Amino acid sequence: MTNDTAAGTDRSFLFVLASSRSDGNTEILARAAAEQLPPGVSRRWVDLNRIPLADFQDGRHDEGTWPAGEGEEALLAATLAATDIVIVSPLYWYTVSAQAKRYLDHWSRWLRVPGADFRARMADRTLWGVTVMAHTEEEVADGMVTTLNNSAAYLRMRFGGVLFGNGSAPGQVREDERALERAKTFFHRDAPLARFPYEPAVDAS
Ligand SMILES: Cc1cc2nc3c(=O)[nH]c(=O)nc-3n(C[C@H](O)[C@H](O)[C@H](O)COP(=O)(O)O)c2cc1C
Repeated sequence: MTNDTAAGTDRSFLFVLASSRSDGNTEILARAAAEQLPPGVSRRWVDLNRIPLADFQDGRHDEGTWPAGEGEEALLAATLAATDIVIVSPLYWYTVSAQAKRYLDHWSRWLRVPGADFRARMADRTLWGVTVMAHTEEEVADGMVTTLNNSAAYLRMRFGGVLFGNGSAPGQVREDERALERAKTFFHRDAPLARFPYEPAVDAS
């Protein structure tokens, strides 16, 4: 099955910036990929460092109050408004950054927000990742790919994969020609329904 709808103007991309420094390599690579989206496709950038999102407290089984803090409601609304969510996270200790992880942890709460209908509304939307790492061997980022793929599978979302780049000092990813080349077509690739490793592949033929 092809997911060619990146070309459709009914798509809206939410880029979730999750580095702990601004204007870093991962954002540079994500912006290079975003430039290739058709002009009519809406795109919104949120920087998790600028949104006051408290550390996640697991109140899923309590009465609790929601939203727990300033910014959380806006972030939920931005997430629900997007057809495509792009986690823009450097590789930190072989997986997503703490900022990205905290954002994903809040999804657990949002699943239980009355009236949000988070699970049903996220189904069939697409999760993507963009990362830059110091390592040149990209297989060290398998942990990040697994985290994002399985998170998408849990919510019955599509998963478009992770765009990799190499770099350490800010701006170094601009020297990674292979990454910049891949960025040109990244959002046009197939984004099949995500599945857990134990689930059989569905034959679309
Ligand atoms: C806390 C921390 C952990 C890191 N962990 C890894 C890692 O596991 N593997 C790796 O290749 N690079 C690692 N790096 C290097 C970053 O991925 C690299 O510098 C990247 O370019 C940073 O992206 P940014 O400029 O978008 O912040 C780490 C850097 C930091 C600060």
